[in-house]
Amino acid sequence: MKMLITGGAGFIGGNFVHYTVKNHPEYEITVLDALTYAGGIETLEPVADKFTFFQGDICDHELVDKLVSENDIVVHFAAESHNDNSLRDPWPFIQTNLIGTATILEAVRKHDKRLHHISTDEVYGDLELNDPAKFTETTPYNASSPYSSTKAGSDLLVKAWVRSFNINATISNCSNNYGPYQHIEKFIPRQITNILSDIKPKLYGTGEQVRDWIHVDDHNSAVHAILEKGKAGELYLIGADGEKDNKYIIETLLELMGKDKNDYEHVNDRPGHDQRYAIDATKLRTQLGWTPKYTNLREGLQATIDWYTENQEWWKAEKAKVEAAYAEKGQ
Ligand code: NAD
Ligand code: TYD
Repeated sequence: MKMLITGGAGFIGGNFVHYTVKNHPEYEITVLDALTYAGGIETLEPVADKFTFFQGDICDHELVDKLVSENDIVVHFAAESHNDNSLRDPWPFIQTNLIGTATILEAVRKHDKRLHHISTDEVYGDLELNDPAKFTETTPYNASSPYSSTKAGSDLLVKAWVRSFNINATISNCSNNYGPYQHIEKFIPRQITNILSDIKPKLYGTGEQVRDWIHVDDHNSAVHAILEKGKAGELYLIGADGEKDNKYIIETLLELMGKDKNDYEHVNDRPGHDQRYAIDATKLRTQLGWTPKYTNLREGLQATIDWYTENQEWWKAEKAKVEAAYAEKGQ
């Protein structure tokens, strides 16, 4: 089976390439990635001889058409992925997440290939704090930010192509991922690299907002379960019951790194900040028999701390630039 992976030089796509090389040698892998600020070919260095790489844009019709025609299956991770960036400049999100996904859909339709579209639980908007409700596959879309609304739009494009053109596609909406190779603009690696750089960790607002954390390898094992056993046209939520508030995460990182757990600062809150995300993954667990492996968040965080500590050359050069961009917004 020939598999085209878009966004394979980013955080989750990169880990997906590693995971697939290790656990699914039946796939012959091609990666298409524009290598934006968020992508790095270094992420794929350990598996460099195991795939073919094309640097290019998912909005490039000709290139996408050629690569889709040459593969059996497309796993589509490429996206602009950071909420804070979408508040600074939404246009790359509209371009990549909407136009890029439409470009892939048209090639998939033309060449009659299988597509799996990677999305986020943020398409559902947010839940109240202290509410037992969780997102399910039937929760209405209600996205809040330019990032999540363009992801919601990309999901609706996939659903429309399934219904109107009967393409063979599945969608998954996963909660917040953590693990190695995540860009240091994101919450957990930002705080780990802050502590390693003698910068105080930064908590937005009160820090009472809740995210449902899942290890990136659990996300990727779920994607493989959907590729193997998922039903065409279906959408699956992916989550591992990892709900924690941001204050807990920052205090746990400080503690695991041998610091005073109160040694962080409150910074400006994110405008429109989603309060809580939580996933009910019953469909994935019962219909596809998937279970997560990384159920101990402290252990997963410790392993992630170890990775950023041992791989400083992967992130060091970016640190000052990332912090300067946040400092402009008082974050
Ligand atoms: P990331 O920002 O780390 O990686 C995105 C990758 O896509 C980068 O390698 C980048 O170079 C590439 N890319 C961006 N624009 C492109 C374009 N126009 N053409 C080709 N390549 C392009 O993102 P991530 O965190 O790995 O997220 C991957 C996917 O998973 C996204 O679709 C995101 O919405 C989704 N997702 C992320 C999370 C999370 O917690 N990070 C959770 C659920 C879903
Ligand atoms: P983030 O990693 O940006 O993911 P998302 O916006 O997709 O949930 O942020 C996770 C949470 O952490 C979110 O509630 C915002 C908060 N946050 C901070 O408190 N400090 C930070 O420095 C960052 C980047 C995020």
